[in-house]
Amino acid sequence: MHVLGIETSCDETSAAIVTNGREIRANIIASQADLHARYGGVVPEVASRKHVERLLPVIQEALAAADMTYRDLDALAVTNRPGLLGALLVGVSAAKALVYALKIPLVAVHHLEGHIYSNFLVAPDLADRFPLLILIVSGGHTQIVRMDGQGAYRLLGATRDDAAGEAFDKSARLLDLPYPGGPNIARLAEQGDPTRVPFPRSLLGDSLDFSFSGLKTAVRTFVTRDAGQTPTADVAASLQAAIVDVLVEKLSRAAKQTGIRTLCLAGGVAANQSLQARMQALGAAEGLRIVSPPSVLCTDNAAMIAAAGYYRLQHQLPDDLNFDTYATEPLAR
Ligand code: KG4
Ligand code: ZN
Repeated sequence: MHVLGIETSCDETSAAIVTNGREIRANIIASQADLHARYGGVVPEVASRKHVERLLPVIQEALAAADMTYRDLDALAVTNRPGLLGALLVGVSAAKALVYALKIPLVAVHHLEGHIYSNFLVAPDLADRFPLLILIVSGGHTQIVRMDGQGAYRLLGATRDDAAGEAFDKSARLLDLPYPGGPNIARLAEQGDPTRVPFPRSLLGDSLDFSFSGLKTAVRTFVTRDAGQTPTADVAASLQAAIVDVLVEKLSRAAKQTGIRTLCLAGGVAANQSLQARMQALGAAEGLRIVSPPSVLCTDNAAMIAAAGYYRLQHQLPDDLNFDTYATEPLAR
């Protein structure tokens, strides 16, 4: 079964073709990061207009890379929530028009569910390994989710203020690093001393919730007081260590509290090499299985959307074409 995935929820225009939920035949990602960098963040209207311009060429590029035509597609999956409304509408409108013309089923995918399924692309056996614990860390979300089966999610913890990606991005701005902040902080951190600045780790007692707004304030206060004396690489490394420490500690606690032994990482921040290394170390120390997708499948891409669509069609009917787009909607409660 060949599924075309479409992802336009933020500033990546992406189309992918995935066969049987596991074989990536094409995964084309046209990033708009350069375009938004001069504004220091994503400008929604600019993003929508770029999606309009790029989506069909990106789909055609995916078909060419997979050596297929539209007629080879068996189903289509598209992100319809949560995200920038105008941006989502571009992908959803194109998807509806295509399935109407091609007479194939369409699945509307929750963006975070897509992130989760990037794990199934690298480890298809996860479909037989429930329950799973998933740490979702992206630009807008930080959550620990328990997955008991296809479509069965329970929220165990979430951020009470900023997301982990936001902590990276907002701190990067304070450090005068260009957008997107996460990868730039990670790159600088490689040459820095993570023990140089004792940034706070907010653990909120026994809770599995997160809070990163205090860290952002601590970075602001530090930058003002320090006035450029501490090398930026040391600040970046210290900041990254503070975020990673909290993420690893919370996921480790969730594993202890639930007894679940298969842990997955999802979302753009999961591309962070330090986080991946620390999670692998935790897995080795505690005998837990850690699954983490390669960077290109952590940040926004359409292969994860196609995979989510494939698994949905295994146990559910496709969606009617009258579904809407939503700026916010929780994956789990
Ligand atoms: O999942 P994603 O691509 O888009 C959203 O759904 O939000 O995540 C983007 C977030 C941004 O905050 C970006 O700074 C962060 O992921 N990010 C990273 C890294 N790569 C992307 N954060 C830390 N280290 C990285 N290597
Ligand atoms: Zn995302």
